[in-house]
Amino acid sequence: MPEDNVQSLTVVTCTAPVNIAVIKYWGKRDEDLILPINSSLSVTLHQDQLKTTTTAACSRYFKEDRIWLNGKEDNINQPRLQSCLREIRRLARKRRSDGDPNADALGYSYKIHICSENNFPTAAGLASSAAGYACLVYTLSRLLGVDGELSEVARQGSGSACRSMYGGFVQWRMGEQEDGKDSVAEQVEAETHWPELRVLILVVSAERKPVGSTAGMQTSVETSALLKHRADSVVPGRMEEMISAIRQRDFAAFGELTMKDSNQFHATCMDTYPPIFYLNDVSRRVINLVHRYNHHYRETRVAYTFDAGPNAVIYTLQQHVAEFIQVVKHFFPPETNGEQFLRGLPVSPVSLSEELTRAIGMDPLPKGISYIISTKAGPGPRVVEDPSLHLLGPDGLPKKSA
Ligand code: DP6
Repeated sequence: MPEDNVQSLTVVTCTAPVNIAVIKYWGKRDEDLILPINSSLSVTLHQDQLKTTTTAACSRYFKEDRIWLNGKEDNINQPRLQSCLREIRRLARKRRSDGDPNADALGYSYKIHICSENNFPTAAGLASSAAGYACLVYTLSRLLGVDGELSEVARQGSGSACRSMYGGFVQWRMGEQEDGKDSVAEQVEAETHWPELRVLILVVSAERKPVGSTAGMQTSVETSALLKHRADSVVPGRMEEMISAIRQRDFAAFGELTMKDSNQFHATCMDTYPPIFYLNDVSRRVINLVHRYNHHYRETRVAYTFDAGPNAVIYTLQQHVAEFIQVVKHFFPPETNGEQFLRGLPVSPVSLSEELTRAIGMDPLPKGISYIISTKAGPGPRVVEDPSLHLLGPDGLPKKSA
């Protein structure tokens, strides 16, 4: 290695958030460009609880592009990874040829090393590809001096990743163009818009999902008439209703739509041939619990949504969090000697009235839920300024290996 290789290394580290859809994306009209058959809408979760951190470095001494994920070297030649790298390099080259003085002079022609890790267990089955691709695209764009509309690039890594490019409440407009230029994410409201909104992730099991979302939605598009009906006739109206519920901070409307849309998404999975099951017995018990809880108060106080796995994501308002967590503990008694049951934002314990537990009236299921992550809406991707937090060392290799 030449003496000046340390000086010749350009390094950038960024973080990006997870998002959880309340109007689900399921189905593509173009597999390569990742263009959806319907628009979708999500809440970006706070990075204090869930985030991906990515460091990218370029140097004229690097011999090839390389990537390390959660401490292990991974295959850089995956098509979606290649799409993102190619697109950001193209945009950097274009900026340079357009004469922008801020564009990186040569970076786009250098090889790049990428190192990425999550602050949450991948085995928990939480959506990591959205935060992962959003972080990759954001970090590469900072490294090569590219800005502007980047959700279109993140979308080509993983559809849902385009929504993680913004904080708060984000819609992904499906767009109409064949080249996907109008299939982009857009912030509906910032994370500060609805400060009382809270998110609880009920981690149901660590078993891996049977069918990944990419393969699952492909089979659904091919076989489910219900999915076509959903995309053509249901989602357009729901997008409008959801945006208006968010703008008015109307939890009852927001919660009801969220639950109905999750249920319809899982109904399209059941309508897929052969059918796909993401919900398990614990998920269905959570659904029952939520409806019984809301029924007791004659009000939609909590709402569930499920992605391509059994974990429940609960949306509620701050004033109901403590009681609802106690309800979950009562009906899914946790392992007492296990790890901390409640993680994330602190919640003070409350006691439950007998009237409430009697009204819910379900048999407790011990250890059904392994832990809860308590969080809220948060901001979009960020640059990490502190150089001691880079995941790649001065030699361009990961600082710690698995
Ligand atoms: C159920 O974004 O993971 O979470 O575009 O093939 O990478 P690909 O799929 P992905 O699908 C997410 C599906 C979902 C719903 C949602 O997030 O909108």
